[in-house]
Amino acid sequence: MKFIFVCFVLMALSGCYGDSQTKVNDTSESTTEFNWNLPPQMALPVEPADNPVTEAKFQLGRHLFYDNRLSGGGAISCASCHEQKKAFADGKIRPTGGAGDLHPRNSQSLANAAWFATVTWGNPSLTTIEQQIMLPLFGTDPIEHGINETNHPAILQSILRDPRYTALFAEAYPTLQQIDWKQLVDSLATFVRGITSFRSAYDSHLAGDKSALSDSAKRGLQLFNSERLECFHCHDGHLFTDSVRDRSMRVVETPFHNTGLYNIDGLGGYPEPNTGAHEVTGRIVEMGAFRAASLRNVAVTAPYMHDGSIATLEEVIRTYAAGGRNITEGEHIGDGRRNPYKDSFIAGFDITEDEINDVIAFLNSLTDEKLLNDARYGNPFE
Ligand code: HEC
Ligand code: HEC
Repeated sequence: MKFIFVCFVLMALSGCYGDSQTKVNDTSESTTEFNWNLPPQMALPVEPADNPVTEAKFQLGRHLFYDNRLSGGGAISCASCHEQKKAFADGKIRPTGGAGDLHPRNSQSLANAAWFATVTWGNPSLTTIEQQIMLPLFGTDPIEHGINETNHPAILQSILRDPRYTALFAEAYPTLQQIDWKQLVDSLATFVRGITSFRSAYDSHLAGDKSALSDSAKRGLQLFNSERLECFHCHDGHLFTDSVRDRSMRVVETPFHNTGLYNIDGLGGYPEPNTGAHEVTGRIVEMGAFRAASLRNVAVTAPYMHDGSIATLEEVIRTYAAGGRNITEGEHIGDGRRNPYKDSFIAGFDITEDEINDVIAFLNSLTDEKLLNDARYGNPFE
């Protein structure tokens, strides 16, 4: 039952979630003038063939992103859980939706989401931002925006009646007679796709500024890329994740990894419903397998992991050093270090206190302060 309305709306988009793959362009011809704000080494992200990025859709999407009217109770917007000051994460362990439902997972940063090969923490079937956005808008498990079969016409009308939106829709869809949810979803996806973040101290370092990183951060970078710590195997490339897709790629991989956070039954079990890719595929070998999070802006997106269960970067590093997490009290007792599905790169390592501080200094250098304050991504109603 719960997906019927989602499927109803999705049929209008491109077929029902789960059994359709949105076609993607692998050429750059559809990109109109758009300010991607990219350093030279970054290839452009892929965009769906039926939703090319335009500045007008980006601006329309930015309004919708910050608009509480786009919800059942009139009190929640995308920005409720994706705050610019926190690189579009929210600082909570797990967020609460419009009807008081606690979300099972931690809110993600949206920076550079355009490049992720799959979206959300551990769902191999979600490959476009358009598909993902249906879930917070129309999903019922949990309820986030709380838009449903009954209230959706009135919500759409309240947006369309606003003269400010009339102008924005006319710019974004100059030839379309009737605006429907598809255009709202496409515009929201375009705004999210346009949130790029490559202006950190680390980027200045890459561009040749020898003083951009402190000595400690430089040592941390070396440690991060060392065979002792192994971080770079999963957090690799310009986005610090191995789950990346761009227009230069012929083959796209969608990896998921178990990092040994839980082992609640001694057989490798993760607490329901957060069993990672296994939740979607039912394949036991994917138990606890999640997408390697991009580490850009990670210093401002605490708490960490799919369920927000690690409070600080220091604790994250200590968990990796131990080769996983041994939980000795509370409801999830079990030794994650002995999880049989754990990735072989999570083997544990020796690290000194100074080295922990160096890795943290490096992770701090990935914060793009300009992103956090850039008016281009800010609330247009303020
Ligand atoms: C109630 C809080 C909440 C609201 C409201 C919300 N989100 Fe999210 N968002 C989340 C959580 C939690 C996740 C992780 C979901 C998961 O893994 O299942 C997420 C994930 C995402 C992702 C995937 C990012 C990635 O790295 O893969 C995108 C894109 C996204 N949200 C966009 C939006 C947009 C656009 C809106 C408004 C239409 C929105 N969200 C509203 C909490 C929220
Ligand atoms: C085997 C692949 C793998 C290796 C090796 C690895 N990670 Fe991760 N990392 C992941 C995955 C997968 C997640 C998400 C796990 C989850 O939520 O259950 C993650 C999450 C994180 C997070 C939390 C990000 C967030 O937004 O919540 C940080 C920080 C992090 N890793 C840093 C590191 C560091 C530092 C190292 C090296 C010591 C490292 N990782 C090694 C795969 C890996």
